[in-house]
Amino acid sequence: MPVKSNFSVTPYSVSGNVDYQKLIKKFGTKPITGTLLRRISKYTGGDLHFMLRRGVFFTHRDLGWLLDRYDQGEKFYLYTGRGPSERTHIGHLIPWTMTKWLQDKFGSKLIFQITDDEKFLSDESLDLSDTRRYAMDNILDIIALGFSKKKTEILIDTDNADILYRNAIRIAKKINYSTVKAAFGFNESTNIGFIFYTSIQAVPSILESVREGRNVPCLIPHGVDQDPHFRVTRDVLPKLGYYKPASIQSIFVPPLSGVSGKMSSSDPNSTIFLTDDPKTVEMKIKKYAFSGGQPTIEEHRKLGGNPDIDVSFQWLKIFFEPDDRKLQKIEDDYKSGALLTGELKSILIEKINSFLEKHQERREKARDVIQDFLVSREDRK
Ligand code: TRP
Repeated sequence: MPVKSNFSVTPYSVSGNVDYQKLIKKFGTKPITGTLLRRISKYTGGDLHFMLRRGVFFTHRDLGWLLDRYDQGEKFYLYTGRGPSERTHIGHLIPWTMTKWLQDKFGSKLIFQITDDEKFLSDESLDLSDTRRYAMDNILDIIALGFSKKKTEILIDTDNADILYRNAIRIAKKINYSTVKAAFGFNESTNIGFIFYTSIQAVPSILESVREGRNVPCLIPHGVDQDPHFRVTRDVLPKLGYYKPASIQSIFVPPLSGVSGKMSSSDPNSTIFLTDDPKTVEMKIKKYAFSGGQPTIEEHRKLGGNPDIDVSFQWLKIFFEPDDRKLQKIEDDYKSGALLTGELKSILIEKINSFLEKHQERREKARDVIQDFLVSREDRK
């Protein structure tokens, strides 16, 4: 199987077969080592989320520093976000689930930014009413994941222009055009709102410090494509007297079509939405999930399948089978040919549908509590 070595990752497009080790070098981040993982499990009573154990979160910035501060008694807060350009899908669950786990384990506050402004500015076809609609829709999925009502605030950018703008201009003043051009690939026809945007995404990483009047460490769990925003942010913040935010960064969940590139909502057959019904899930997996199996049952029994390129197996590994022993057995059986592609797909379909059934119930209940999560007027500073 020829593997393309050309790939590109920016917050606005991902293409090719991403080589994560090369990406670490290119972006200048650090791998999440066993030593760091052991340090984390020291605070969690030995518990380590399987996405950390399996390298789904594979790289970081300043995680060791953050834990040093924690040892000194400085609690950190969490920050993550969502650009509401479509319905939410399986891929979004990775950083959000990690954020929820960290909130549970460390009792951290969380700022969840909804960047409707970003999606309005970056997508020609979206109006502010579209991004608003997606924002309110996506927030239901976020709340359904079970974030603490007391410790979480969801900040919709266009509803919080005051706190965002006052801080964003201080940041924007320290960033020049050539920096963002290099980071995001802007050109002469890029609209100027979009050019300014990264300074808006930077604000939540200082917001607690602004509110508290002292530096508060910030940890940002995010997909690796967002790193350019925070690379720029980290260069600027010390000039304004703030800590740089730390981050932990995840790989992409492969699209159904194969293990290269990133899932995209604009191709509904490449992904599973959190609102898909059981029949749709079954159809999509059966029809579209790229298989690492052999063309015939006979050959498969003889030669076995290749889990590394099998999307169903990868989805189990990345998110849907937390139990290491069960996952290992599936892998072994698939490789030996004892487990057929159809059987592997059935395991995944079962897992996804039982997850979605519960998720969709919680999603409906979330409608009643949206207001409790939104940054309230009195709170704005
Ligand atoms: N730019 C992100 C997106 O397109 C949204 C976002 C804003 C975000 N702040 C963030 C993502 C912090 C991760 C962490 O979806």
